Amino acid sequence: MKGISFFSVVSAVTALATTELHNQGFTTLQTSQSGSILTVTIDNTASNVNLISLNVLDDLDRLVTALQNDSATKVVLFRSKNRDFFAAHLDVTPLVQLPGSNLLLNISRLPQASIAIVDGPARGISNEFLMACDMRFASAKAILGNFEVSLGLTLGAGGVSFMPLLLGRGRTMEYLLSGKDFNAQDAEKYGLVNKAFTSSEELYKYVNQLANRIALFPAGALASIKAAVNLVAGPTADQVRFDSSEFIRLTATVEAQGLLQRFLALTKNQTSVGVELRLGEELPKLYN
Ligand SMILES: *[C@@H]1O[C@H](CO)[C@@H](O)[C@H](O)[C@H]1NC(C)=O
Ligand SMILES: *[C@@H]1O[C@H](CO)[C@@H](O)[C@H](O)[C@H]1NC(C)=O
Ligand SMILES: *[C@@H]1O[C@H](CO)[C@@H](O)[C@H](O)[C@H]1NC(C)=O
Repeated sequence: MKGISFFSVVSAVTALATTELHNQGFTTLQTSQSGSILTVTIDNTASNVNLISLNVLDDLDRLVTALQNDSATKVVLFRSKNRDFFAAHLDVTPLVQLPGSNLLLNISRLPQASIAIVDGPARGISNEFLMACDMRFASAKAILGNFEVSLGLTLGAGGVSFMPLLLGRGRTMEYLLSGKDFNAQDAEKYGLVNKAFTSSEELYKYVNQLANRIALFPAGALASIKAAVNLVAGPTADQVRFDSSEFIRLTATVEAQGLLQRFLALTKNQTSVGVELRLGEELPKLYN
């Protein structure tokens, strides 16, 4: 490319239009558009472990609504600003009412390809979010899992419906009923992530190349292939609604409320980096 070509002017104008589209006054998401690739960085500055709070869920909701009608974006990359965590888990103070059950279902059905760059722990709703993306790539710093069972809960955002599609029934049962962690290697071996890398640099390099390759291709073909794959390997709205109603039912139980209080004590109100990093090992202490 030499000088300012017609095409670079056109793509600069497109980039402006889409940046405006995504600049919805987010407080916990940063967005940056490069051609038809949108990078979304999750940055909940109110939490040292990047908790998924109600603000994050609201921002994601508005982002997804904008993307549903965004024909200039072909690939969405999700990453984290936090040095230690992708996003630890849901902020359970107060235990937020999950915004309908459809946020993650809507993410899975976006016309764009969605790719998560997982360079740190992502448990609970964060792992549900990852499973709703089309692809996940992880570094050795990633720790994944769903520990809801240890709080007397089920997964509330649709993750129970997504996981068997990736792992099969037996491994889904093993991990969801034990609440134990996946390291990056097992996550790759079992199909929870597409590929694991030893370093963050390799992770980013691979995803950037993949995103740029996908972004070459026509948006209509990408959206059509996604819709067809989702018919075979995507949950239905009814399945996700069941997950959500079970979550709401269980949060009201005395057992879950007691466990949540113990969880807050164990994690020092969700601020202990050490406990949050080792959460899989720490959780049985709720039952001491
Ligand atoms: C988004 O597109 C759908 C059709 O795909 C249309 O029904 C809806 O009105 C559009 N929404 C906005 C805000 O433009
Ligand atoms: C999901 O998308 C549908 C439109 O396809 C919309 O009506 C609904 O509000 C969205 N739900 C959430 C939680 O974003
Ligand atoms: C957690 O927060 C509550 C009130 O929000 C406070 O009473 C309690 O002391 C805090 N506990 C720790 C370990 O920080």
